[in-house]
Amino acid sequence: MNPLITARGITKHFGATKALDGVDLDINAGEVHVLLGENGAGKSTLVKVLAGIHGHDAGTIEGHASLAVIHQELALVPELSVAENLFLNRLPRRYGFVDRAEMRRRAPKLLERVGLNVDPNAKVRDLGIAQQQMIEIARALDKNAGVLILDEPTAVLTETETDRLLEIMAQLRDNGVGLVFITHHLDEIQRIADRITILRDGRSVGVLGPRATTQHMIELMVGRPIEEQYPRAQQRPGQPLLRIENLTKRGVFENISIEVHAGEVVGIAGLVGAGRTEVARAAFGVDGYDHGTVAVDGKPLPRHNVQAAIKAGLGLVPEDRKGQGLVLTATVGQNLELVTLDDRDEERLHDIAGKLRIKGRVEQPVKELSGGNQQKVVIGKWLLADPKVLILDEPTRGVDVGAKVEIYELINRMTAQGRAVLLVSSDLPEVIGMSDRVVVMAHGRVAGELSKGATQDQVMALAVQEISA
Ligand SMILES: Nc1ncnc2c1ncn2[C@@H]1O[C@H](COP(=O)(O)OP(=O)(O)OP(=O)(O)O)[C@@H](O)[C@H]1O
Ligand SMILES: [Mg+2]
Repeated sequence: MNPLITARGITKHFGATKALDGVDLDINAGEVHVLLGENGAGKSTLVKVLAGIHGHDAGTIEGHASLAVIHQELALVPELSVAENLFLNRLPRRYGFVDRAEMRRRAPKLLERVGLNVDPNAKVRDLGIAQQQMIEIARALDKNAGVLILDEPTAVLTETETDRLLEIMAQLRDNGVGLVFITHHLDEIQRIADRITILRDGRSVGVLGPRATTQHMIELMVGRPIEEQYPRAQQRPGQPLLRIENLTKRGVFENISIEVHAGEVVGIAGLVGAGRTEVARAAFGVDGYDHGTVAVDGKPLPRHNVQAAIKAGLGLVPEDRKGQGLVLTATVGQNLELVTLDDRDEERLHDIAGKLRIKGRVEQPVKELSGGNQQKVVIGKWLLADPKVLILDEPTRGVDVGAKVEIYELINRMTAQGRAVLLVSSDLPEVIGMSDRVVVMAHGRVAGELSKGATQDQVMALAVQEISA
């Protein structure tokens, strides 16, 4: 059978950067074709060339199928409603006017298809990123295209949502749709892939079958095996550096008490909506709270005051890097220095950029970096500021397996120097593997605490528990 799309020898430059170098790709009907590669390997660029967003310098693309693409960066309009976003650019019309009745009829069906329980009239800016991602997916599904390309849709999804998406993908495949799927989660690849094309530095370095081992995938993409995926080096804990006591924000979280000592990594696990991000934001002063205290190194912080928090030695790597972590039009160097403006230190700047292996030049605008490399800049900015206590909220979303280990080593280095880390993460192996203790939150409260060596089942048992008032 002929492929739906055949790309041969695709080459693409951005100035002096060769993002793609002679890549071949077939998209077949009834097949999930995974694109795997390190941050900056060229995956999103290939998608954009296939979609006609970028031109290419050499090579050919032949196709006879319509294309729907879910891009890595969300393309929703925050000020518009869920329904309006679902039908953006293709609003149903009647007699030349937007057919609102038709929209109201179709929106709930689409939302149900992706298992999203939100009001179609709600503004998109009021939704979490996982929900926004599901809206993008629903919108793409509505196009009933012959080829569906998904660029890291699961990076912001929870396990349940990921399961649902993989189910939908399998259904589409059975109905003859050709799918291209990009993810850094190797377990997802093993669950759904029919074929895996591995990119390294813009080149295709191998095509594997559905039974490929994770080791084989890693070796091809990183160019070396990874010995230890969670290389936590524990320290003897010192004095308490972060003390959150009875922190309460009515209707959001209640009586949260968490202590992190010098040299420690404390994890916060829990389901989406458990209140983890909200506690992190309140502690750092981005949001206010009703009562309780936050103290850094024995010094209580004023409420709702980020500047004071930073001055006291607190840092936060937020989960939404685009919205809160980066100035996209500024350069990598400028972003890295955002917290430390007063003491410019070129040497440390290059040191951090090198340790994180940020693929991109220091003088390049951040928006030209690949998604995973943008995430590394957010982390690098805070490592450079060297706070006493660093709160990391989903730090490795969209980061490749090799770069994750680099980030973990930098966490180890911080705690070896007597700093403290609070690690909020939905990635269970990560939060268990890198934390010395794990606090589990459920429904805005602390459901329990587990010591080193806890299992995923133990964490989940606490996370899903109903807490009586
Ligand atoms: N608009 C652009 N201008 C300049 N360089 C770019 C642009 N878009 C991408 N690049 C460069 O092309 C290379 C490939 O980037 P791409 O976004 O395709 O990587 P990726 O494989 O999708 O990585 P990730 O896993 O981090 O999403 C990178 O070096 C990136 O900096
Ligand atoms: Mg990408």
